[in-house]
Amino acid sequence: LQENFEDVVDQQTRVVAIQHASNCMGTVHRLKEIIKTIKVLNNRTLVVVDGSQAVGHMPVSVKELGCDFYAFSGHKGPLGPQGTGGLYVRKEVLSHIDPLLVGGGAIADVTERDYKLRSDSSAKRFEAGTPNVPGVIGLGRGAEYVREIGLTRIEARERELARSFIDRISAVKGVEIYCPSDMSSRCGIVPFNIEGWRCQDVSLTLDEKWKILTRAGHHCCLPAMRFFGFWEKFGGNIRASFAYYNTEGEVAKVADAVRTIAGA
Ligand SMILES: Cc1ncc(COP(=O)(O)O)c(C=O)c1O
Repeated sequence: LQENFEDVVDQQTRVVAIQHASNCMGTVHRLKEIIKTIKVLNNRTLVVVDGSQAVGHMPVSVKELGCDFYAFSGHKGPLGPQGTGGLYVRKEVLSHIDPLLVGGGAIADVTERDYKLRSDSSAKRFEAGTPNVPGVIGLGRGAEYVREIGLTRIEARERELARSFIDRISAVKGVEIYCPSDMSSRCGIVPFNIEGWRCQDVSLTLDEKWKILTRAGHHCCLPAMRFFGFWEKFGGNIRASFAYYNTEGEVAKVADAVRTIAGA
């Protein structure tokens, strides 16, 4: 992967956007090395990380990664309310960005003809209007809860449940599992398909017959789905996502259901 970056990052490259953990493949990218490679190739290239599937599932250190931006959803791993999330911006970059929305806290001065934005490089420059206070309080409580359990513990448990599921279904005839075989490059997401089935039909059957919720389709990653050939053949893939609070019994139940659908 790092070698491929050498083909695409050149002196014209302004921004590279990359996921931390892939929502459609379950891969945890070796971001630290990748970002280092990008910065060596062009140290003016800004690196934007989508950490939606990583935050709350594993320890994350933006300082260690060396990224310029790191975004996450509040309602996934951090167990916060919908409509919340966060964006880290490296301090040196922050002062070069103008807010998209202007108002309230973003303003230092306003006249009849003009306005002046806050000149400091704090996040307040981006807080136009009334903040979502109840949402942020909920996100804070979710984050506290997750930290009480411990991110290393959560990461290990989710990986263990994913490994158990992979072990249980990998030999089932007709089941294709997509993920790196090296468990240290994986998160709790296990994508798969069943030969002869559209992925949406598998997901619907799991729900209707066993009350098992999975997600099926392109997962907002159509280019990746086409690249791997899942789109044409299966309509995408099915994503089984194991979280800290799932049990071994539940893993066994999903695996049995998949085996039944595959007719094994
Ligand atoms: C990798 C990734 N990025 C972004 C999103 C979108 O996040 P949100 O639900 O906060 O809009 C998702 C949602 O599934 C995701 O998996």
